[in-house]
Amino acid sequence: MSKVCVFDHPLIQHKLSILRDKNTSVKEFRELISEIAMLMCYEATRDLPLEEITIETPVAPAVCRRISGKKLAVVPILRAGLGMVDGMVSMMPNVKVGHIGLFRDPATLEPVKYYFKMPPDIEERDVIVVDPMLATGGSASAAVTFLKEVGVRHIKLMSIIGAPEGVRRMQEDHPDVDIFVAALDDHLNDHGYIVPGLGDAGDRIFGTK
Ligand code: PRP
Ligand code: URA
Repeated sequence: MSKVCVFDHPLIQHKLSILRDKNTSVKEFRELISEIAMLMCYEATRDLPLEEITIETPVAPAVCRRISGKKLAVVPILRAGLGMVDGMVSMMPNVKVGHIGLFRDPATLEPVKYYFKMPPDIEERDVIVVDPMLATGGSASAAVTFLKEVGVRHIKLMSIIGAPEGVRRMQEDHPDVDIFVAALDDHLNDHGYIVPGLGDAGDRIFGTK
């Protein structure tokens, strides 16, 4: 069974409460999504392997540690996942970025794929899938399935808000994928929106409503 990690760090919780507020502007919403992604990335990469190297400081040699050549990729689910990419890239400037385009059919709530573009060596990389909202889990589960189909073996999912339904769906479909969220909310409403949630993440990031 996969691990579900809920980040209770005060900085993340503070930013999340502003994010949820319906009066928060598009500009501030975008900045907050990016900042929360950056803070979550810090914790979600805690298990990256390190190796020792010796550096010459101006004073003496120092045995230091650096990330040991682990190949990583960040894969946002379009559109809303795009809002989390800058925060991740600012922490990991050399990371490769793949894109999966999915939208939820409003009638069936099932994900529809319209784009899939990965770095050529994606099967050698550990992947962090990012999408601010894990609602029914249909989009995240489909994204992970597409990545597994092209040979990716190690995948994590990072979402800002998760619903219990989405977490359950991911754990059933992909018990090998650990899930990182800043909050686990109460339930989904009849339209598949997370309650209390923050509304439509894509619309709030891109100002399309
Ligand atoms: C939202 C969100 C997720 C999905 C979550 O995207 O960004 O991708 O819904 O819902 P699920 O867990 O029930 O699949 P949406 O389909 O609204 O597309 P958008 O990002 O292009 O606005
Ligand atoms: N997608 C969103 O953007 N928000 C929700 O609450 C559910 C799905």
